[in-house]
Amino acid sequence: MGNTFPTIKLNDGTDFPVMGFGVAGLNKGEILINAVNQTLEEGYRFFDTAPFYGNEMEIGEALRGSGYKREDYFLSGKLPNDCHAYNDAINAFHKTRELMGMDYLDMYLIHHPMPMYGKYLEAWKALEDLHEQGYIRVIGLSNFKESHIDNVLAHCNIAPATNELECNPYFTIEGLRRHCQEKGIRVITWFPLGGPLNPPPPIPPRPENFIQMLKDETLNAIGEKYGKTSAQIALRWAVDSGMTPVPKSGNPKRIHENADIFDFELTAEDLARIDALNMDRRLGPDPEYYDELSPVAMDV
Ligand SMILES: NC(=O)c1ccc[n+]([C@@H]2O[C@H](COP(=O)([O-])OP(=O)(O)OC[C@H]3O[C@@H](n4cnc5c(N)ncnc54)[C@H](OP(=O)(O)O)[C@@H]3O)[C@@H](O)[C@H]2O)c1
Repeated sequence: MGNTFPTIKLNDGTDFPVMGFGVAGLNKGEILINAVNQTLEEGYRFFDTAPFYGNEMEIGEALRGSGYKREDYFLSGKLPNDCHAYNDAINAFHKTRELMGMDYLDMYLIHHPMPMYGKYLEAWKALEDLHEQGYIRVIGLSNFKESHIDNVLAHCNIAPATNELECNPYFTIEGLRRHCQEKGIRVITWFPLGGPLNPPPPIPPRPENFIQMLKDETLNAIGEKYGKTSAQIALRWAVDSGMTPVPKSGNPKRIHENADIFDFELTAEDLARIDALNMDRRLGPDPEYYDELSPVAMDV
C-alpha cells in the first residue's frame, strides 16, 4: 500500500488521516485521473467530494481504476443542500454512492446546515440510519456553527465525528474550533491554502485590495526556517493545531509539495505567530445565512 499520512482516532474509533485531498475545481479527464493516482502514491487516502463539485462519477472511476483496494482509501461525500428532508437525504446518498460505483462511503457530511429551513435534524436521522445499515462508516457535519452543533448533539443517537469548516491562518475561527474539540468533533478545514484565486459562485469575487495568503511574510519567514513553502506551513499549522486540511491541487508539483509536510513540526512559538495572523477573513458564505435555495440570500 506504500506511504500513507499519519492517522488519528475519531470519536467513533475510526482511523482518520490527518490530511486529505479536496477535489472541488479539479478538472475532469487526464488531470483528475493523474491527480488521484499521484495523491494515492504520495500518501493521501482521504478524498473530499460533493455533488456540487460535479466530478463524483470521475472520482469514483479514478479510485476504482487506481489499483488500490477499496479499504485502502477513505472516500467522503456530502448531502446536497436541497435534500434535507428524510427521504430526499436517503435518495441523494444512494445517488452519490451509485455514481461513484461504491458499495459504501467512508464518510458522509451534511454540506450546510441551512438553518432557515430547520430540516438538518431530519437529514441527520437519515445519515444515522444509513450508518446503521452499513452504507456509511462515519457521519459528520460541514459548516455547522456552535448552535447547530449543539442542536444535533441534543437530538442525535450518534454524535457527529467531524465538522468541515472554512479555516486557514487568516480565518482561524478559534471559538468554533474549541467548541468542536470540547464536543469530541474533529475539524476538517476547507480553503486551507486561502482558497482558489478565481472562486466559483457562491464565493464572492475577491476585493481589489485582496491579500493572497500564501504571500504572507510571516508564513514565508517560518517556511525559510524549515526549507518549506508558505503553503506547506499553512497545512502544517492546520495539522499541528489538531485539524485535517483538504488542500486541492491539479498540479503534480504542488500535489507533491502539499504532501511533503510530515518531516517537520511547528513549535508552539511558530503556531502562536501564525494564530496571530488571523484577520477573521471569511471568503465563503456565512453558514448562518447561506441559503442555496434562495439566490438573494447568497449575497450575505
Ligand atoms: N465543505 C465545504 O463547504 C467546502 C467549501 C469549499 C471547499 N471545500 C473543500 O476544500 C477543498 C479545498 O478548497 P479549495 O480547493 O477551494 O482551496 P485551497 O485548497 O485553499 O486552495 C486551492 C488553490 O490553491 C492552489 N494550490 C494548491 N497547492 C498549492 C501550493 N502548494 N502553492 C500554491 N498554490 C497552491 C490550487 O491551484 P492548483 O490546482 O493550480 O495547484 C487552488 O487554486 C476543496 O477542493 C473541497 O474539497 C469544502
